[in-house]
Amino acid sequence: MEFLVSPGGSLQGEVRVPGDKSISHRSVMLGALAVGETRVSGFLQGEDALATVAAFRAMGVSIDGPTRGELKIQGVGLKGLRAASAALDMGNSGTSMRLLCGILAGQAFASELVGDASLMGRPMQRVITPLTRMGARIEAADGGRPPLRISAGATLQGIHYDLPMASAQVKSCVLLAGLFADGETSVTEPAPTRDHTERMLRGFGYDVFQRDGVIGLRGGGQLTGTDIDVPADISSAAFFLVGATIAPGSELLLTHVGMNPTRTGVLQILELMGADISVQNPREIGGEPVADLLIRHAPLKGIEIPRDLVPLAIDEFPALFIAAACAKGRTVLRGAEELRVKESDRIASMAEGLSTLGVRNEVLDDGIIIEGGPIGGGTVRTFHDHRIAMAFAVAALCAERDIQILDCDHVATSFPGFDSLARGLGLPIAVQDPEP
Ligand code: S3P
Repeated sequence: MEFLVSPGGSLQGEVRVPGDKSISHRSVMLGALAVGETRVSGFLQGEDALATVAAFRAMGVSIDGPTRGELKIQGVGLKGLRAASAALDMGNSGTSMRLLCGILAGQAFASELVGDASLMGRPMQRVITPLTRMGARIEAADGGRPPLRISAGATLQGIHYDLPMASAQVKSCVLLAGLFADGETSVTEPAPTRDHTERMLRGFGYDVFQRDGVIGLRGGGQLTGTDIDVPADISSAAFFLVGATIAPGSELLLTHVGMNPTRTGVLQILELMGADISVQNPREIGGEPVADLLIRHAPLKGIEIPRDLVPLAIDEFPALFIAAACAKGRTVLRGAEELRVKESDRIASMAEGLSTLGVRNEVLDDGIIIEGGPIGGGTVRTFHDHRIAMAFAVAALCAERDIQILDCDHVATSFPGFDSLARGLGLPIAVQDPEP
């Protein structure tokens, strides 16, 4: 599937984008490990979260749905998972693979984790190292890549792990393994990262402590089934936050957006650039802050992105690079080397597409410098990365000519229905099959 997006247009209206991917994954994982029923609403019916659902079904968990975002999970308790009859295929989803590794490391049965071509090339040593220290036995391919083979019957010991990189996936993996470990398991992070695991564990009645920067729990407790309302994903909202900001005449209301402070770096960065975003009706739902966001077009200026905001906006940089391309002056991003190990190398993928569209940029080891200026048109590659596809789609709002975007199938991993939803708001986007 390809997108062909005509230049110009503006975004108008009111919309609730699909559910948060990180929270959707965790709702299935903790719901499966809980005692009793968990009901989820607003669940993201994207391929990544569905890979997590399929994995738990394969391990014997009864899950109804998702139907219109509703899911009912019959939890089996911390000791109730069963061996799957085949390797667990996590598709494109790094979150599924890394968090599941933590859950599977201490099981009585062996497991194998595989994924698509992108996931099979992503680094897993970052979870293998702490899990091995806890007593797990995990085999990987060269360079710590999948497939991962997790041995049966390891006895896990609680550890303290000082995370070498700001990664919520690694933090969550270690904490989830800690549920099955003897004693206390704790982590410290080089910078705060999304804390949905900690919040949701508490929502399931599990005690998670946080003192002096140390986050931890004791193994052997019990999770109790609960109800979860998944907010709209701020990472999906980001494409429209940027789109409405760069397109003259836009006025857009995004409703029920997750506003967890470990995720709102995109708002802070856009505000520093001059965006006009008002946060309305802030409220808390099921332990997560939520609000409606009203965005009006505003001229942007280039900035040096503060380093402390990088982990808080890590998935939003493809969209933010488009904002930078439309800004007056230069935007500098540093300290973002983690972008190189996402679904694609997002610094390289975005730099190539920006250059194709005539936007001057300089690639750095850990970031990029983007000179704002006119966006031309042309054909860009996505490297099968959903967020690259959606970022270049909204770039057309500020472009001079058509933008053709190749290989857009992966958009369905996080944002099923993106094209029709965007079209309804005013983005002149068409979907086409690639030429034979
Ligand atoms: C996620 C954490 C982030 C993010 C990913 C989802 C999560 O990855 O990029 O899309 O749900 O924990 P890292 O923690 O590896 O940075």
